[in-house]
Amino acid sequence: MYILGIESSCDETSVAIVEDGRAVLSCVIASSLADFQKTGGVVPEYAARRQVECMNACLQQALDRAAIKPQDIDAIAVTRGPGLLGSLLVGTTTARALAAVWQKPLIGVHHTLGHLSSTWLAQPAESNTQPQFPVLTLSVSGGHTDLWYRTSHTSGQRAGTTRDDAAGEAFDKGATLLGLPYPGGPSLAKLADNGAENAYAFPSPLSKEQTTDFSFSGLKTSLKYLLRDLKRDGIDCDQYDTKASIAASYQAAICRHLMAKLSVAIDRYPQSRELHIVGGVSANKKLRSDATRLAERHGLVVRFPSKGIYSTDNAAMMAAAGYFLSQEKPEAINHPFMTKATENVEHVLA
Ligand code: KG4
Ligand code: ZN
Repeated sequence: MYILGIESSCDETSVAIVEDGRAVLSCVIASSLADFQKTGGVVPEYAARRQVECMNACLQQALDRAAIKPQDIDAIAVTRGPGLLGSLLVGTTTARALAAVWQKPLIGVHHTLGHLSSTWLAQPAESNTQPQFPVLTLSVSGGHTDLWYRTSHTSGQRAGTTRDDAAGEAFDKGATLLGLPYPGGPSLAKLADNGAENAYAFPSPLSKEQTTDFSFSGLKTSLKYLLRDLKRDGIDCDQYDTKASIAASYQAAICRHLMAKLSVAIDRYPQSRELHIVGGVSANKKLRSDATRLAERHGLVVRFPSKGIYSTDNAAMMAAAGYFLSQEKPEAINHPFMTKATENVEHVLA
């Protein structure tokens, strides 16, 4: 089954064609990152206008690269929310128009289910093994930080969530405090590569609770006070080595907190066979190596999105999720979904 996926929930415009929820025949991503480097963040109105300009070219390229004709597409999957409303409308309007003109089924997909499906994506020639349920998935992005225990693509439960900021937000806000360029997460991670991660102490959030929830706002505040105190003591925080070590210590604290709560979850869900880490922050090298070690210790298979572009927002994961929904929840096909900027978390697996 060939699914054409469309994702436009934030600043990216992406169109992909995926076969049977796994083999990525094409995945085109147009990013307006360069524009937002100038503004230091996403300007919603501008993002949506860029998406209107890019959508048709992305669609054409996705079809050309996959060497697939519209008549061979079996269904269209599109991100229905959450996201920036104008951006979501560009994607869903395109998807609705294509479904009507090509006479194809339309599947509206929750953005998070896309991320949860991203560990299934592979290149057509790859013969790596299929993930096996039950799967414990940590989804860490700029908008959410959730832990899911699933026995199939669409059944299971949310096992934990952040009580304040998302993990990606912690990276982004930390980068802003350190004066690093947008996008903050990758900038901070790059700088951290050259620093000493034990140089500065950060607290361990929620360490007194046996919870599977997360909290990042305290880490961000600690960083703010650390910078204030260092400056007060006459230390130049803009000196490269100092800044790199602050970044490395802060990144390590985020990862330590994620690992601590993942450990609790692994004990709470002993039936889990695999640990998956998805979402934009899953591109982080330190997080990948820490999670690999944790999974090994617990005898779990660990998986991350197989390519960096499948960690951050992309249409291939939406096409995969559309396929899994069509298999497990056929009522999702042609469901008259609304485009919701703040989609309910209860609807992720629905
Ligand atoms: O999943 P995503 O592309 O968009 C949302 O759905 O939010 O995630 C974007 C987030 C941003 O906060 C970005 O800073 C973070 O992922 N991110 C990273 C890295 N690459 C992206 N954070 C840490 N290290 C990275 N290498
Ligand atoms: Zn995302």
